[in-house]
Order: sequence, then C-alpha cells, then structure tokens
Amino acid sequence: MSVKLSNPLFEKLGMKYPIIQGGMAWAGTGHLAGAVSEAGGLGIIGTGYWKADKVREEIRRAREVTDKPFGVNVMLLSRHIREVFDVIIEEGVKVVATGAGDPSPFIEELHSHDILVIPVVPSVGLAKMMEKKGVDAVVAEGMESGGHIGMLTTMTLVPQVVDALKIPVIAAGGIADGRGVAAAFMLGASGVQMGTRFLASEEAEVHENFKNSVVKAKDIDTIVTGELLGNRARVLKTKMSKNFVKQERIEITKPKPDADAIEELENGSLRRAVLDGDKENGAFMAGQISGMITDIKPVAQILEDVWSQAEDLLN
Ligand SMILES: Cc1cc2nc3c(=O)[nH]c(=O)nc-3n(C[C@H](O)[C@H](O)[C@H](O)COP(=O)(O)O)c2cc1C
Repeated sequence: MSVKLSNPLFEKLGMKYPIIQGGMAWAGTGHLAGAVSEAGGLGIIGTGYWKADKVREEIRRAREVTDKPFGVNVMLLSRHIREVFDVIIEEGVKVVATGAGDPSPFIEELHSHDILVIPVVPSVGLAKMMEKKGVDAVVAEGMESGGHIGMLTTMTLVPQVVDALKIPVIAAGGIADGRGVAAAFMLGASGVQMGTRFLASEEAEVHENFKNSVVKAKDIDTIVTGELLGNRARVLKTKMSKNFVKQERIEITKPKPDADAIEELENGSLRRAVLDGDKENGAFMAGQISGMITDIKPVAQILEDVWSQAEDLLN
C-alpha cells in the first residue's frame, strides 16, 4: 500500500513527493530549485533582496533544468518587491512563498494569475491571519530551522496550526529523513519543507566550505544570532557568529545601540558564506538537523531516500 498524498495543492502541481525545498536567499538558486522540481518535489528559488533582473535570470535557469512547476520565495520587505512580482507573473511562475512580511496586498493579484500563495508562519496567530486573508496553504516552521526563526519548535507548532486551520499545513524545521516526514504527517501536516538537507546536495550552488560545514556539524553546532536584536537567525557556529552574539550583547546594553554596527554585522554575511565560503566573516545559515546530515547527494536521491523511508514508516 502506498500512502496517499492528502495535499490537493501538491496534486495540482503534479508532484511525486510531498516535499518542498524551502526558499533560501543566495543558496536556493534556479539550478537547485529546478533540479528538485524535476525530481518530483517542489523547488523554490530564494530571492532575498535580489533585483528583478536577477530573479528573472534564476527563473530561466530553473527552466533550463525542468518543465515542471517551481516556486519563488520573495522577501516582502525588499525595495524591489513590485518589480519582482511583475517578473514572477510575466514568467508564469506557479507558486509564491513568503518569509518575513505580510503578502495580503498581493494575494488577489497573484490568484488572478493562477499563482498559489504559501507563506511561512512561526505562530498560530499569524497562521490564522494568513488563512483569513486567503492564502492557499501555510508552512509552519519550527525554530530548529536554518535561517530566520520564530520561538516555537516544530513539534509544538505544527499540531497547533493544524488544529486552528482548514487549509493544508506543511511542516518545516528539523526534517531531513523519512522519520521526520512521517512524524510531521502524524502531527497533521500534509507535506514537509526542508532547507538544510538540500544545502548538502550535489546541485546546491553553495561554496564547498558551506556543504562540508553542514556535513561535519554535530547536533549542538548551531547558534542563534540576533536574539537580542529581535531578528533571530540560526547559523552554524563560526568565529563570526560567536562574535556576532557577543557584539550584539555589547550593542544592546548601550543607551543607544549603534544601528550601523549592527547592520555591518548582518550585512552580506550570508552572501559571503554561500558564494565565498568565508569562514571568518560568513553566516552559514543551517538548522539543528545538520548534525544528522553526513553526506552530499543528488537531490533526486535525497527525495527518494526520504520518501521511501517515510512511506515504510507510515504504512
Ligand atoms: C541558508 C538558508 C537560507 C534561508 N533563506 C530563507 C529565505 O530567504 N526565506 C525564507 O522564507 N526561508 C529561508 N530559509 C528557511 C528555509 O526555507 C526552510 O524553511 C528551513 O531551512 C527549514 O528548516 P531546516 O533547515 O531544518 O530544513 C533559509 C534556510 C537556510 C538554511
């Protein structure tokens, strides 16, 4: 017996596996997203603060790899957001995922172009608000995740969001094998999103140092930066990230925190990790599940291994 995919969105998108590759600024390129969609998952291009031209270029790179639908993750706080949406619509993208910010001003327009809107939410309150505004599904992301995070764990967040919503809930945070997928389904999710696992893939266009750092990391090798500044992000422990945490403690105790110093700490640090593999100054965003990831595999293999283990367990 094979487990039925209970997520109508995934059926609409023609996916073989109920697995999304989460949008990752800098790291989630068109090449990676295209490969994930081609292999039967849903790849998502992470656009961060990119300008519209770069977004178009990456969408076209994904198309070089696949004819299947893929998504684009947008940073709603970006100054270029209007032009980015224009490109997404012009290029016929099928899914828009959002991280920080409120997508509601754009939902109607995106729906009129048959584009699904799937925001990432860290709490029940935000999930309910998004459902009310008319999104198609939510990704409930626990604080085990790599990148920017909320306060709740996947184990506690997912069932509470499932209970509160009627639309499909996709679980993210700390999932990298079939056990995690099966657990997410048991919590009521009808799909999963993984980020860190796809960093350690052959198709990920991140610097070798980044991939190797994920593979070498142990369970306790991540740290949360930005805790005191209200902009929490999970990254691998490096000289830079440990210094960041020390520095923010110093800044926050000052009567007037130095905004420039704080921005300098954050600015470009993910780019330096992804493109340059800069262990001194880069922020290697990655989740707690890095400790379980010990190899670099093609995305098709990752999807097949994860889902066949999940299916065995769910059966
Ligand atoms: C390097 C990196 C960059 C990320 N950038 C974004 C982003 O730009 N937008 C977003 O919504 N989520 C971002 N995420 C979160 C992922 O989309 C995904 O939800 C998360 O990685 C899932 O948890 P996991 O890392 O435990 O698999 C990022 C994650 C990583 C590891």
